Amino acid sequence: MKEIHLKAPRGWINDPNGFIYYNGEYHLFYQNFPYAPRWGRMHWGHAVSSDLMNWKHLDIALFPTKTDDRDGCFSGSAIEKDGAMHLVYTGVRYDVPDPENTNCCLDDKFTAAQLHISSEDGFSFDNFRGKTTVIPPITDTEIGDKNHTRDPKIWRGGDGNYYVVLGSTVNNQGRLLFYKSADLAHWDYVNYATAEGYGWMWECPDYFRVDGSDVLIFSPMGTKDGNQAVCTLVDFDEQSCSMKIGSEFQFLDYGLDLYAPQSTTDKEGRRIVVAWLRMPEPMDNNSIGMFSIPRVCEVKDGHIFFRPHPDIRAKFTRKATSPSGIYMVKASLAEGEQLDIGGYIIRREQGRIIADRTAVIRNHEELRNIFETPVLSGNAEIEAYVDGNMIEFFVNGGEYVITNAVYDLSDKVIGNAELYVMDDTEE
Ligand code: FRU
Repeated sequence: MKEIHLKAPRGWINDPNGFIYYNGEYHLFYQNFPYAPRWGRMHWGHAVSSDLMNWKHLDIALFPTKTDDRDGCFSGSAIEKDGAMHLVYTGVRYDVPDPENTNCCLDDKFTAAQLHISSEDGFSFDNFRGKTTVIPPITDTEIGDKNHTRDPKIWRGGDGNYYVVLGSTVNNQGRLLFYKSADLAHWDYVNYATAEGYGWMWECPDYFRVDGSDVLIFSPMGTKDGNQAVCTLVDFDEQSCSMKIGSEFQFLDYGLDLYAPQSTTDKEGRRIVVAWLRMPEPMDNNSIGMFSIPRVCEVKDGHIFFRPHPDIRAKFTRKATSPSGIYMVKASLAEGEQLDIGGYIIRREQGRIIADRTAVIRNHEELRNIFETPVLSGNAEIEAYVDGNMIEFFVNGGEYVITNAVYDLSDKVIGNAELYVMDDTEE
């Protein structure tokens, strides 16, 4: 199915997992509760694509089978080794299941371990015999938390070893834990990193090098803005796994609906990121949540850019006179000007871009519905991708991004804008 925002065929989705270009195809796994549009005992859904746009949904890849993951296969990541696909992920078991809904636990209390499973072709996973616990629940409370330690992101270091970074917490302060392995089976704890005043638990960390800079992405919980995905430039020393984290953070997305991003490299070697887009209510097919457009991460003059993937951008070549289906809106906003996309307002005010979805959020006035970027360095070139229940717009080619879930958009675009549809959209 052609989609710019991948959605689950059924039920609930959250984080993207195991994102990898493997044997000529992109594999995107994701946190999935397939039985209802709400969070519950986690499985890994699975979709593949050769172009990041035409997605084929496959059977569920991972589901609970072992004591260590009996209550959920939480987030994790993928790497290729000797031709096979290897996944590392967090397995959880609840301390006390909720008697009224055993898909959840009481008081957010569970035990977390890190597991490994591999596949010879990226399609078949032996959930019964293929799983091994590689990092048992943490017992040293000065290192990490037995409950809140999760989301291994794996990479191969310059020294040929494998590394994972995990999100954790100690004394109510979020932190990262680094482990190292020569063979993916035996893992040693090496070091931790943290920064004060930035949430009590750090979920879904991701570390990579791009344009000569070390980039860290993570999703801190309980900041003054709630649970939000942030990124920052860091200094990382591979041998000691010491990471210096400063105090300047950018949001990955100033629409604040985006969470738990995960990166990989695309077939051209670009660093690309996808993320979970949170939604307040299900869509027409009764599924809830979707994924962002894959974004290319670049660093320029100390700023982290997230640009729309060029292969997706390149599809929107046909000019249109009215909006239909999935479309793209291009506009250049001068101070005081605004663009109205079906009731969703984008305006330039005091050098910032403001987005206002108050008119297209159905009955969710309780949510925060007005968002803003920091002050822009210059122009305000807008490129908005509109897909029924999601508007994802890039300011100045990815200097900032705002993405928002929307409902009941009208089919009018008002403002000085150009509309494009995909090159093969039917007339
Ligand atoms: C982030 C997260 C992860 C966890 C997963 C569980 O959204 O809470 O930390 O692995 O979702 O679904």
